[in-house]
Amino acid sequence: MSLVFVLLRKQYHGLVLLLLCFGHYYCHVPTTLEGPFEPVTVPFDPALRGVAVDLPDTDPRVRRQVQGFQPEQISLSLSTTHDSVWVSWITGEFQIGYYINPLDPKAVSSVVHYGTSRTSLVHETRGQSLIYNQLYPYEGLQNYTSGIIHHVRLTGLEPSTLYYYQCGDPSLQAMSDIYYFRTMPISGPTNYPGKVAVVGDLGLTYNTTTTIKHLTSNEPDLLVLIGDVSYANLYLTNGTGSDCYHCSFKKQTPIHESYQPRWDYWGRFMQNLVSKVPIMVVEGNHEVEKQAEDREFVAYSSRFAFPSEECGSSSTLYYSFNAGGIHFIMLGAYTNYARTGEQYKWLERDLASVDRSVTPWLVAAWHPPWYSTYESHYREAECMRVEVEDLLYSYFVDIVFSGHVHAYERSNRVYNYNLDPCGPVHITIGDGGNRERMAINFADEPGHCPDPSSTRDPYMGRFCVTNFSFGPAVSKFCWDRQPDYSAFRESSFGYGILEVKNETWALWSWYRNQDSYNEVGDQIYIVRQPHLCPVYQEKCREYSASI
Ligand SMILES: [Fe+2]
Repeated sequence: MSLVFVLLRKQYHGLVLLLLCFGHYYCHVPTTLEGPFEPVTVPFDPALRGVAVDLPDTDPRVRRQVQGFQPEQISLSLSTTHDSVWVSWITGEFQIGYYINPLDPKAVSSVVHYGTSRTSLVHETRGQSLIYNQLYPYEGLQNYTSGIIHHVRLTGLEPSTLYYYQCGDPSLQAMSDIYYFRTMPISGPTNYPGKVAVVGDLGLTYNTTTTIKHLTSNEPDLLVLIGDVSYANLYLTNGTGSDCYHCSFKKQTPIHESYQPRWDYWGRFMQNLVSKVPIMVVEGNHEVEKQAEDREFVAYSSRFAFPSEECGSSSTLYYSFNAGGIHFIMLGAYTNYARTGEQYKWLERDLASVDRSVTPWLVAAWHPPWYSTYESHYREAECMRVEVEDLLYSYFVDIVFSGHVHAYERSNRVYNYNLDPCGPVHITIGDGGNRERMAINFADEPGHCPDPSSTRDPYMGRFCVTNFSFGPAVSKFCWDRQPDYSAFRESSFGYGILEVKNETWALWSWYRNQDSYNEVGDQIYIVRQPHLCPVYQEKCREYSASI
């Protein structure tokens, strides 16, 4: 047998181990069954730049490439099941200035022609259109009104099928080129999308373009974006930007401004990928974008299509969907998550309705992590954890994805800070490449444990952090070494790919931007053990009996 030289970069306690793999089958990828693992920290490589630079508005990738009411910023997103997909796009030009004249959304129809043959787009579906405004009623601040945003929901689609489509308004002879997408497999314990790409805190920098180039080369079937999208709110309404808004502008402006054209730039740059690969987005703190009359999340809620109505949610800020045998739950961290609130009640209903014999994998995602050990945003989402963790644990969520912290971290299976074989694996993947600084310090390093009072996030409401009441860090706010629940952490830009193999095994791979395309930075098989953690079946039976 020939020797196949696959070098896996693994660093344990500062030692670099090169694992020689003798043929594909002899490479050992660790599994969670072998865990919990000793915590590993890969030291920050100073050669990596800790900051990233935004694409300027002169970059051809963010410039408007269409005329009149031709569609642009075309994107896809999933509905709750395989047979339905949303198509979204924008027509007409945005305006920004002291005086704006919003477009009439009825002026352009929302039509999609589609079919299974490029030469025969025999089906037609119509949808809805809207515009949104970002208004700042303060002297000297400019207002924004969007182009016409179109959302059309295709239904009656076959599973695992390639569809071609064209969108626009045929009466205006303003139809797009022909694009294509593949529907998700029908939900079932043996049916899964090939690759689900996961990324957070993406932004629109030269590092973002590297992330998306790498990610695209991996040919994902679905893209999940865990919040913090365009970073338009790092800009004033006059288009002046900064890596740190509060450092640069806080005292100069009566409200946290946002430069909405950055959203259009982001939509133009992303079209090449998301016109073919569905993108599912959940909001981060950069999507709050408060404006006149205290309106929030307007750009986020207007620009993307969400399967909220289809999944019984009354909000764009939290929803769920199926991708084959995976049930995704997207939660809102910057809206009410209290047990008495609408989101929590929806979450209870959604979890109880999941049939694990159909969708064995339960994956949850929200923006700020619960189990990050970086100094940045350390324990910032503790109130949400206290409120929601028990419910998710009682249904044995398998994996949790978060962003917000601009680095990578993978936990051991954990619940309430204790190692627990039935707790989820928490993965922080906020390393998409935005212009804010990379997180490189850890709360367990000398001098880097934050003051508890400094960890409050005004967007998350209450303040819940306390010193640990048990464990090695009892009576302290931070551990004095990498916590046991942290399995692997490294500061680098990148993204991840989730490949569910069957109803109990899934391969998780983290890729770093500076590596070659097929080299992994971290890889593990996440293995479900339903025989060990069977309580959900009782929960489902209880729910079924109650309705
Ligand atoms: Fe964030």
